[in-house]
Amino acid sequence: MDVTFESRAEPCTIGCRDGEPVLFAGLRAGLTLPYDCATGTCGMCKARVKSGEVETLWPDAPALAKLQRDKGDILMCQARALSPCVLRVPGQVACEGTRVLPDYDQGRITSVRALTSDVLAFDLTLAAPLAFAAGQFAVLSVPSLTGGRAYSMVNFADTSSVLEFVVKKRAGGALSDWLFARDRTGELLGLFGPLGRATFRPGEDRNLVCIAGGSGIAGIVSILEHASASGHFARHGARVFFGVRTLADGFYLDRFDRLVAGSNWALEVVLALSHENSSQPVHPEYPRIKLAHGFVHEVADARLPAACENVSAFVAGPPPMVDGAIRMLIGHGVASASIRYDKFG
Ligand code: FES
Repeated sequence: MDVTFESRAEPCTIGCRDGEPVLFAGLRAGLTLPYDCATGTCGMCKARVKSGEVETLWPDAPALAKLQRDKGDILMCQARALSPCVLRVPGQVACEGTRVLPDYDQGRITSVRALTSDVLAFDLTLAAPLAFAAGQFAVLSVPSLTGGRAYSMVNFADTSSVLEFVVKKRAGGALSDWLFARDRTGELLGLFGPLGRATFRPGEDRNLVCIAGGSGIAGIVSILEHASASGHFARHGARVFFGVRTLADGFYLDRFDRLVAGSNWALEVVLALSHENSSQPVHPEYPRIKLAHGFVHEVADARLPAACENVSAFVAGPPPMVDGAIRMLIGHGVASASIRYDKFG
C-alpha cells in the first residue's frame, strides 16, 4: 500500500506492508519522520490524513487524547493504511540513506534473570547480528499480544546477535505481565529496531550528564559502556543520576561500580532514593556509588553546578520525570539541543 508523506520538503512516497504502522514503513525506507516512543505514548508522530483511509491499531493509545481527531489527526506509530493515502507531517521529511535503518526481526529469549523483586533482565538472541548505537531501543512484540512495547538495549557492541533488555513489572503492562507470568526462556519475540536518536557519539568532545528513572537506566548503561570502551572518560567527566524508590530497588550497581573504578573517578554515579532516606552517603555494598534522597531530577538539580558547561545530557524515564529533568537542565544552562531524551510511558 503506497503512503505519501507531505511536509515542508518534497513529498515522499513509500510502500507499507500489510498491517504495518505507517511510521515503521517510513523509518524502514529511511525517512526522517518525527517520533519519540514509537508506541503511542508521546504524540510526537502526529500527522494529518489528507486523503485515503487509515485504521488505528491501538484505540487506547494515551497520546490519541492530544490529537484533533475530528480534523484527521493520527499517530503514525499507531496507524495502518487501508488504502493508498497522503499524510501531512509537521516539519521537513527527508530521506536519510546512510545510517542503519530499522527493520523487522525476531529473536529467542535466553538467560532470564531477576535483578530485583520487580525487575527482570533477559537476552534476546537473534539469528543475525544487529547494528545499533548506544542509547537506541527496539519495539518488542509477542505474537499473542496486540502491539509492541519499547525497550532500550542495555549492552553495547557495534553489532551483536545478543541484545540485553531490562523490564520493570508494571500493573496492566501487557508485555511485562507476560514476561513475569512464568519463565519465558526459549520463547520468540518480534522486534522492530533499532530506533531512537538519543544516542552517544564517542567523537563528541563533551562531558556527560545522564538522568534516568527505573528501567530508563537501560540505555544509559549502554551509553556508559560505549563511553568507557572508547576512552571517553580519559578526557571527560560524566555524572549519572539514577532514580529508584528504595535501596532495594537499585540494580546494575555492580556494573556502575566497575565503570566508576575503570574511569579513575571521572564517572560519578548517584543513586537517588525517592521513598527512603538513607543515613549513609554511599551504598553499603558498592561504596563507589553515592546515595541521595529525593526525586532524581531534584537530586541532580541540587548537585549539578549552577552553570553546566560543555555538556551532552541524556534523560530517560517516565514522561513527567523526563519533562522535569529537561526543565532543570535548561535552568542549569544546558542548551536544549544538547539534551537527548527517551520518554517511556
Ligand atoms: Fe507515536 Fe510516540 S512516536 S506516540
